[in-house]
Amino acid sequence: MISRAAALLLAFSTLPLTAEVRDLKAFFQERCAVCHGPDGTGRGASGARLGGRNLAEARWLARQEEAGLVASILKGRGAMPGFRRQLSEAEAHRLVKEVLRPVAARKRP
Ligand code: HEC
Repeated sequence: MISRAAALLLAFSTLPLTAEVRDLKAFFQERCAVCHGPDGTGRGASGARLGGRNLAEARWLARQEEAGLVASILKGRGAMPGFRRQLSEAEAHRLVKEVLRPVAARKRP
C-alpha cells in the first residue's frame, strides 16, 4: 500500500510547472539571451552585437507600454519570433516586470 506522503509526493511531481514557480530569469537566459545577450544589451560575452534589440536601455524601456512589449514577446516582431507557445500571457507580463524592467534599471539581470 502506498503511504499518504508518498501519494502526495507523486501527485506534486506530476503537476506541470505553473506560472508561479517558473523561473523566468532562467527562461530569458535560455531563450532570449541568444539574441539579446545575457545582460539584455544585445551584445554577447565578447561584446559582439547579436542582432536583438538592446533591452537594457533604460530610457527606451521606460517609454514602452507593458502591453506593447508583451504583444511583441508573444507574437514576435521583425526578426524576433513569437513565444506564445512557450509563454502564457501572464508569464510574458511577469517577464517584462520581473526580468526586463529590473535589467534596465540595474544594467544587469
Ligand atoms: C532570433 C533573435 C531573437 C530572440 C530569440 C529574441 N528576440 Fe527579442 N528582439 C529581437 C529583435 C531583432 C528585436 C527588434 C524587433 C524590431 O523592432 O524590429 C527584438 C525586440 C524585442 C523587444 C522590443 C519589442 C518592441 O515592442 O519594441 C522585446 C521586449 C524583446 N525583444 C524581448 C525578447 C524576449 C523576452 C525574448 C525571449 C522570450 C526575445 N526577445 C527573444 C530578436 C530576438
